[in-house]
Amino acid sequence: MSVREIKKYPDKALREKTHRVTDCDAELDKLIDDMIETMYAAPGVGLAANQVGVSKQVAVIDVSVRDEKSLLIVLVNPEIVHFEGEVEAEEGCLSVPDYTTVLKRAMKVCVKGLDRNGKPVEIEAEGLLARALQHEIDHLNGILFVDRMGRIRKEFFKKRYAREKLLKK
Ligand code: NI
Repeated sequence: MSVREIKKYPDKALREKTHRVTDCDAELDKLIDDMIETMYAAPGVGLAANQVGVSKQVAVIDVSVRDEKSLLIVLVNPEIVHFEGEVEAEEGCLSVPDYTTVLKRAMKVCVKGLDRNGKPVEIEAEGLLARALQHEIDHLNGILFVDRMGRIRKEFFKKRYAREKLLKK
């Protein structure tokens, strides 16, 4: 296993809609293992394959980062089939370091996809897990959490964040 480099905003890889996985093979296994290690090393509660530059519909999530018990979820070709309610909470992203914002998301979701062996899985979630699922599935569709902010906050973010990151380089 190895830790891969996480692509940062405004990298183009984060803007691409990823490809569906058609084979659960050794290459996919290696990608998933590396993504898990990269997520824990960051540390973060979720990671999508295009955040490490791979255009595949693969996401890993573990919202238990601060607890001892691991709640690791690996999802291949995930899709949200049901949204319910609305809730606001603070959100951030490993690809947009040093920035968080309060964002409205569905309170509950139901997600269908495959596990790493290609077996169908269905997850019903609420709270932080529901938020993480929506965030990671957005990634796989080329959408960043900052895209979901209001217009004014978005413009402010683009100006300020882009300028600060350029200055740091
Ligand atoms: Ni993210």
